[in-house]
Amino acid sequence: MCGIIARVGGDDDGAVDELLTGLENLEYRGYDSAGLAIKNGGGPEVFKREGKISRLKDVLADETPDGGLGIGHTRWSTHGPPTDANAHPHTDCTGDVAVVHNGIVENYDELKTDLADRGHEFESDTDTEVIPHLVKEQLADGVDPETAFRRTIEKLSGSYAVAMITDREHAVYATRRGSPLVLGVDDGDYFLASDVPAFLDFTDDVVYLDDGDVVVVEPDDYRITTPDGEAVDRSVQTVEWDPEDAGKGGYDHYMLKEIHEQPAALRQTLRGRADPATGDIRLEDFPAGSFAGVDRVQFVACGTSYHAGLVGAQFLSDGGVPARAFLASEYATAQPPVDERTLVVGVTQSGETADTLSALRRANASGAATLAVTNVVGSTAARECDDALFIRAGPEIGVAATKTFSSQVVSLALLGERIVRDVTGTRSENARERLDALSNLPGHVQQILDYTSARRVAERYRDSEAYFFIGRGAVRPVAREGALKFKEISYEHAEGFAAGELKHGPLALVTPDTPVFAVFTGRNDEKTLGNVKEAEARGAPVVAVASRDQEAATQYADEVLTVPDTHPDVAGVLANVQLQLLSYHAADLLDRAIDKPRNLAKSVTVE
Ligand code: F6R
Repeated sequence: MCGIIARVGGDDDGAVDELLTGLENLEYRGYDSAGLAIKNGGGPEVFKREGKISRLKDVLADETPDGGLGIGHTRWSTHGPPTDANAHPHTDCTGDVAVVHNGIVENYDELKTDLADRGHEFESDTDTEVIPHLVKEQLADGVDPETAFRRTIEKLSGSYAVAMITDREHAVYATRRGSPLVLGVDDGDYFLASDVPAFLDFTDDVVYLDDGDVVVVEPDDYRITTPDGEAVDRSVQTVEWDPEDAGKGGYDHYMLKEIHEQPAALRQTLRGRADPATGDIRLEDFPAGSFAGVDRVQFVACGTSYHAGLVGAQFLSDGGVPARAFLASEYATAQPPVDERTLVVGVTQSGETADTLSALRRANASGAATLAVTNVVGSTAARECDDALFIRAGPEIGVAATKTFSSQVVSLALLGERIVRDVTGTRSENARERLDALSNLPGHVQQILDYTSARRVAERYRDSEAYFFIGRGAVRPVAREGALKFKEISYEHAEGFAAGELKHGPLALVTPDTPVFAVFTGRNDEKTLGNVKEAEARGAPVVAVASRDQEAATQYADEVLTVPDTHPDVAGVLANVQLQLLSYHAADLLDRAIDKPRNLAKSVTVE
C-alpha cells in the first residue's frame, strides 16, 4: 500500500529530515520505491529512487535541499513496474507542480490521451502523472493553485488521496476520497500522512479528514473545506499510541491488521472491473475475446494460493471450461499434457515462489500460454509470464496469507467469467448474481469483522487434541485453507477434508477432543449436515460456519461462526475470514509468533 507524508513548516530547513523519518515510519506498509519533493524558495525539487529508502537517502546525502515544506511518498506498484521514473512525486512538463498519490485514478487512460493530444509529454507509466499535468493547465489559464487543484480533482474518478505543492504559494494542497489521509498538528508545523504512525515522532495531535475534504496547509494555518469550498470544522484529537506499536496501525500483529484490511483490499481488487448492473467484466489487459483460443486451463500454485487455484478451477468447470488446479511442486516434475491451446495460470501472491516459477517455466517451454495472477507488479512471475493480472491486495507482511487469498479468489472469479464467456460464447449461469455477491463482499467482510465470536470459540476449544475442517464443493478448498492457517500459526494439529471423505478414513480420528469445523454455503447443505452428524455421533464438538438462513446447519452445531447470507459460490470467502480469525485467536491464546511462525518464510524461493 502506498504511503503519503507531507511536512509544512516555515523557512526552517527541517523538511528533508522529517520527511525521511515519515517515509521510514511508513515502511511497514510495504513499498518498492520512495521519493520526496521540497519547496526550496522556487519550484519543487524532486528526488526519487526505486528500491529502499536508504537509496533515496544516499542521493540526498550528496545534495540535501534546504526548505521547510515538502511532500514524500512510498510507492507500492499498481500501474507500471518499480522504477525511478514511476516513483512519486510526479510533475508536469515544466516541473512547477509536484504530486504524490495513493489509490487508483480509474479514468487516467482517457485523461492521458486527451493531455497528450494537447501536447503534454509523460515520463512514467503511472496513473498519477495526469494529475500535475491537469493542474498545470489550470494554472496556465490564470487560476490560483487551490482552484486549479479543486478543478483537477473534479475530473478524477476512482479512489485516491493526493497531496500537491507548486512553485507558487508556500502551501500543501491535499484531498482524500476512499484512501486515508490524516493531518498532524504540531507547534507551528503541520503534517499530512496516510497513517498516524508516519508523524508520531513529531506530534500526537491529529485531525481525521473525511472523504471529499480539501485541505490547504500553510505554515501558520490550515483550512478544511468541502469539494464546493464550504468551510468544515474537524476536531483535533490526541492519539494515545505507543510509536513501537504504531507500525502495525494499532493492531497487535500484522496478521490481524491484514485480516482487517480485507474490506479495503477487496474494494481495490474489484474497482472498475465488474458491473453487477450490466454483468460486464473489464479486466484491464484482457478485453472480450482475449481467451477465445483457449481449450483448457491449468492452475499451478502452492499453499494458500493453491487453495485459491482450486476455487478458480471450480469456477471454470462450472462454466463449462475444462480446468484443473495442480500443486506447483508436483506439476514441475510430472507435467500433465499441454499444448498451445492450454492456458497455465500461476497463482502466486509474491510472484517469487520457486515451485510455481518452475512449473510456469515448464509450461512455457511446452508451448502453453502463461498468465501470472499476482500481488506484486514487477515480480518474476509477472515478468516471465506472457500476461499478468494483479490482485491489488496491497502488501502483506504477516507470513500467513490472509487478505491476498480473498483478493486472489475474487480476481479468479472475474478472470474465470472472462474465460468462460470467451470460450463458450455465453455468460456462465448466475453470472449477475455472482457479480452482485462479489461486489457486496467488502461490506459483508466488514460485518464479520464487527461481530465475530471467533475468539470465544478459540478459547472454548483451546485444549483440544486436533482440529478438523470439512466443506463440500465450492468450500472444500476453504476447509483445507482453514486447516492450513490453523496449523501454520498455532502449531496445533489440524486437517481439512472434503466433507464426504470423513467417513472414508479420517472419522477414525474423531473424538470428543477433536472439534469439527463444518463450512456451509447454502448448496448441498443437507449432505454436509449428514457428515456433521457422523462426527457428532462420535462425541465431537461441531462448529458450523454458516449464515443464519442455514437453520438446519446451525441447529446441530455447538457453536456457530456466522457469515452474512450470499451466493453459494462466494460464501467461501466469508467463511474463510471467520476461519482466519479463529486461527489468529487460537495462536494468540497460545502466545505463538503469529507474524513469523517457526520454520516458515513469506516467500519460498527454493524448490
Ligand atoms: C500460507 C502461505 C503459503 C503461501 C505459499 C505460496 O499462509 O502463505 O502457503 O501461500 O508459500 O506463496 P505465493 O502465493 O507467494 O506463491
